[in-house]
Amino acid sequence: MNNNEIILELSGVCKHYNIGTHVIEVLRGIDLQVTSGEWLSLTGASGSGKTTLLHLLGLLERPDEGKITACGQDYSLLKRRAAAAFRRQKLGFIFQNYCLLPELTVLENIQLPGMLAGVNRRQLEKDARELAGRVGLYKRLDHRSNELSGGEQQRAAIARALINRPAILLADEPTGNLDSRTGEEILQLFRDIRSERPECTLIMITHNAEIAAMADRSLVLRDGVIRQEKEEME
Ligand SMILES: Nc1ncnc2c1ncn2[C@@H]1O[C@H](COP(=O)(O)OP(=O)(O)OP(=O)(O)O)[C@@H](O)[C@H]1O
Ligand SMILES: [Mg+2]
Repeated sequence: MNNNEIILELSGVCKHYNIGTHVIEVLRGIDLQVTSGEWLSLTGASGSGKTTLLHLLGLLERPDEGKITACGQDYSLLKRRAAAAFRRQKLGFIFQNYCLLPELTVLENIQLPGMLAGVNRRQLEKDARELAGRVGLYKRLDHRSNELSGGEQQRAAIARALINRPAILLADEPTGNLDSRTGEEILQLFRDIRSERPECTLIMITHNAEIAAMADRSLVLRDGVIRQEKEEME
């Protein structure tokens, strides 16, 4: 893939929620173009809609208005099954609240997206063990995810998001629950991914200044629209 290729494009994306008779306008017209291999950080006040935006990009929710295209695919044309397949093949999602399956072990959780994508079992187990090692969970492979600390769950969620080598990695505060040393290890993992897979595009919600500094562009979500950090400072 050509490095200057637009891999992700949003135009006029709006999303609201209804709570009883109350309407919350969360996203009021998001326009954004991201090139392949680009790293973006996204910040904004709590409740500003960061997770909502990432869920739209991850095909976990649909916009009310506007258009999203990723890897050449117009999201509005994807029905449920095709959306699930696209998610498995192209996207990696690190959830703010991890979303591990409690009845599965760490190894099984990490392998799950690969199993759903039909990856060869041996290869998958090898990849999952390697990733578990890289996020420092090698000794926890047989633990069920509800037997893990918050930070360990977060690291398992990171490994799971990487298992299918996604074209676009969507990360919702991936170091939000880690101490500074473990956070530094995860930072190093992201750096390694960047040099191993420079085509991988990353959109990361983070309030960690060090992580944000690794990004090519810093976006701020405010009043339902995206501002580039430079605009914000003017
Ligand atoms: N499923 C939902 N139903 C109703 N309202 C929702 C829903 N999801 C989010 N909201 C509302 O939309 C707004 C944006 O929420 P969102 O989770 O996107 O914020 P955020 O920027 O990720 O915040 P934080 O930094 O606290 O994680 C909030 O006011 C929230 O209450
Ligand atoms: Mg959030």
